[in-house]
Amino acid sequence: FKWTRQLRYQAYQAWPQEYQTLLKEQVAHSPWRLDYHIQPPSGLLNDPNGFSFFNGKWHLFYQAYPMGTVHGLKSWYHLTSKNLVDWQEEGLKLLPSTSYDSHGVYSGSALPVNDKLFLAYTGNVRDENWTRTSYQLGAWMQPNGELSKLTTPLISKPPYGYTQEFRDPQVIFYKDEYFLLLGAQNQNKQGEILVYRSPDLDTWSYAGPLQFTQQSMGFMIECPNLVFIDGKALLLFCPQGLEQSNLEYQNIYPNAYIIGEAYNIETNQLTQPSTLRNLDEGFDLYATQAFNAPDGRALAVSWIGLPEISYPTDPFGWAHCLSIVKELTIENGTLHQRPVKEMSQLRIDPPCSLNQSVSQINTEQNRYEINLEFKENQSGKIHLCSDPMGNNGLILSFDRRHGKMKIDRSLSGEVFAEDYGVTREFTISQEPLSLQIFVDISVVEIFINDGKQTATARIFPSSEQTTLLIECDHAFSGTLWKLRKMN
Ligand code: FRU
Repeated sequence: FKWTRQLRYQAYQAWPQEYQTLLKEQVAHSPWRLDYHIQPPSGLLNDPNGFSFFNGKWHLFYQAYPMGTVHGLKSWYHLTSKNLVDWQEEGLKLLPSTSYDSHGVYSGSALPVNDKLFLAYTGNVRDENWTRTSYQLGAWMQPNGELSKLTTPLISKPPYGYTQEFRDPQVIFYKDEYFLLLGAQNQNKQGEILVYRSPDLDTWSYAGPLQFTQQSMGFMIECPNLVFIDGKALLLFCPQGLEQSNLEYQNIYPNAYIIGEAYNIETNQLTQPSTLRNLDEGFDLYATQAFNAPDGRALAVSWIGLPEISYPTDPFGWAHCLSIVKELTIENGTLHQRPVKEMSQLRIDPPCSLNQSVSQINTEQNRYEINLEFKENQSGKIHLCSDPMGNNGLILSFDRRHGKMKIDRSLSGEVFAEDYGVTREFTISQEPLSLQIFVDISVVEIFINDGKQTATARIFPSSEQTTLLIECDHAFSGTLWKLRKMN
């Protein structure tokens, strides 16, 4: 059938049971299902939402449209975890049910307050002419998981001078006050981040647009997040329609960041902002959500997928996944993103060592982690998920002397999103190169030089593409762990 607007926004209950059974069967027969990444049981997953620690567990939600691989009527899907690695599916939790969220429970965040979890999210409403109204809404989750929506919006309309493209509240508690950061568009169709303040989560006063750049941030900013790391303020966001002169990127929309010395509440300013940078050098990363966890870490998780692009799993009834959880640090002014230490719980011992200048092994199931150290001034090529002859695959080539790295997914299996290019090339520092790479069936996450850069890619290899081949002009040292599935 054809996905009409009416179908995309029809209530979930209106879908016949047979349709849902068929969809689940399709998913069950899909190649490329993941073993340790969060993926939707059916339909489409997008932004991570409500990442938090509450009542002794990690909580994570995501934007879900369970009825197909289109952006339809969205809800929040809930997962919990004891270790950030094994996630328990708790099901759809925040569904459209009121006149403030009739056309979608859109992205938002969570904050534990006393013994409850406060959720802030956007209610998307369309009228008969399909004109959008956005409400910023709140809900409380009890320790037993019970949810109750607030009956009136936290913020019922954008401030004067802004359009209804106004969404994705991040709620934080900073210096004895609550703040909401919102993605917005001004009436000149420019992206901005708006800030609200509240003493009690009840009454919100508008504090104006966040001052963090002199440059134009495109036509819209989605998913802003502010986290504090050793006193510095890290701002993550997704500018749409950004000019290449402000940031070089190839994805349809980038996920970008700026580091400020601090956040000045009175001037609503990120002081001494760095230049704008890409959060990821790869193909598919968007809508990262970060928060300051009570254990002192700044943690982040991203959507691996992009708006407005078809993926090869669509015909199998599901699309997209979340990234593994990363810890963010700022060291000597540089952002580092490392896999959380809990990721080592997935390792199956003993590891296997790789050190021949040409090393080839059959990994059997494309579910592994490799750590590689190149001490010489090397250049080389890593073929991930290649065929038994060592051909094809996702090819990661590097040339340390010239400080260059390139990822090529043109031969990695089913090709997609060619309109945005099949390669990504970027500069790396000329220090000894270290790589930590996580492979999970159809997703690859690469951490370069202790997380100073990351590169993420979905790939859709054939079932015989399970070989790892490393070709290098000098010896190197490497360790490979097979990983277990998520419990
Ligand atoms: C980003 C986004 C958000 C919105 C959500 C809807 O991918 O467009 O701005 O809240 O997805 O699912």
